[in-house]
Amino acid sequence: MSIALPSQVRLVEVGPRDGLQNEKQPISVADKVRLTDDLSAAGLSYIEVGSFVSPKWVPQMAGSAEVFAGIHQKPDVVYGALTPNLKGFEAAVEAGVKEVAVFAAASEAFSQKNINCSIAESLARFVPVMEAAKAHGITVRGYVSCVLGCPYEGEIRAEQVAPVARELLAMGCYEVSLGDTIGVGTAGQTRRLFDVVGRDIPREKLAGHFHDTYGQALANIYASLLEGIAVFDSSVAGLGGCPYAKGATGNVATEDVLYLLNGLGIHTGIDMDQLIAAGQRICDVLGKPNGSRVARARLGCQGV
Ligand code: HMG
Ligand code: MG
Repeated sequence: MSIALPSQVRLVEVGPRDGLQNEKQPISVADKVRLTDDLSAAGLSYIEVGSFVSPKWVPQMAGSAEVFAGIHQKPDVVYGALTPNLKGFEAAVEAGVKEVAVFAAASEAFSQKNINCSIAESLARFVPVMEAAKAHGITVRGYVSCVLGCPYEGEIRAEQVAPVARELLAMGCYEVSLGDTIGVGTAGQTRRLFDVVGRDIPREKLAGHFHDTYGQALANIYASLLEGIAVFDSSVAGLGGCPYAKGATGNVATEDVLYLLNGLGIHTGIDMDQLIAAGQRICDVLGKPNGSRVARARLGCQGV
C-alpha cells in the first residue's frame, strides 16, 4: 500500500528555548549564542531562540535580549521568541525580534500554572499582542499545550484542543503548534487529534510538538505525517521540558527526527553531522548525556 507523505518537512528547532528553559544550572549568553549559531550553520531554517517571560517564572530565559544581540542572524533563517503578553512582546521588539509565539493551553489547570490565567484570559491577553505585531510587521506563531494529556487534569480530548487552535488562527497566528507537553500521547491518539482539529483548520496551518517522556514522540510524528502534517518542533540532543509540567522530559531530538525523515526521503535541508556536533557541544557545556539516540549511536556513546 502506498501512503502519501509530505515531500518536504520544516523543523522548528526549539532547543535554545524549550531545551534550555528547564535547566537548573546557569547557562551563559555566549553558550546560548553558540548553540543558536551552530544550529543555523547546520541548516535549521527556524530557531526558537528564547522567551520574553517573567524572569521570576523562568529564570533561565532572562538573558534572551542579549542572546538575540549576540547571534549572527542568517537572512534565510527565522529566529523566534515566546511572548506571553504585551510586556514580553515589547521587550522582544526592543531586542529586534521579527517573529514571536504566543502560547495557550487546552487544559485550564495547566494554563493557570504556566501563565497564571484561564484559557479565555490568555486568549484575551493575546489580542493586543496580535494587534501590536501586525503594526510592527511581526509574524506570530501559536502554541496549544497539553493537547494529549495534562499533568494536573489527566486526559484531554481533541474536542478541547480544536477551539483554542481555531481562536489562535482567527486572531492572526499563521500556524498553530499542538504540544504534547508531557509526552504521554500515542500514535492512535495523535491521528485522532489531527483528524478532529483538522476538520475545520487546514492541515498546512498545524504543527506537532512532541515531548518524549514515554518514548512515543517519533511514532507520533510518523502518525502526524500520515495525517498530512509537515511542520514539527524538536530540540537538539533531546533537551527540554516545561518547568510547569513536572516529570516531563525533553522534546523529541532533532537528530532522531532528521534520521526518520531522511529514511523516508523527506527533504529538510539539515546536515546531520553538523547537527550532531551542535547537540554534543551543548551537552558538554551542560555536563549531560546526549538525549538523541542517533547522536549516541553515531558518536559511539553508551546509554544515557
Ligand atoms: P503574572 O505574575 O500573573 O504577571 O505572570 P503580572 O502581569 O501580574 O506581573 C507580575 C510581575 O511580572 C510584574 O513585575 C511584571 O512586570 C512582570 P513586578 O512588578 O512584580 O516586578 N512581568 C514580566 N516580566 C518580564 N516579561 C514579561 C512579564 N510579564 C509580566 N513578559 C506571566 C504572568 C505570563 C508573565 C508569567 O506567568 C510567565 O512569565 N509565565 C511564563 C511561563 C513559561 O515561560 N513557561 C514555559 C514556556 S511554555 C512551554 O514550555 C510549552 C511549549 O513548549 C509547548 C508545549 O510543550 O506544550 C510552548
Ligand atoms: Mg514544549
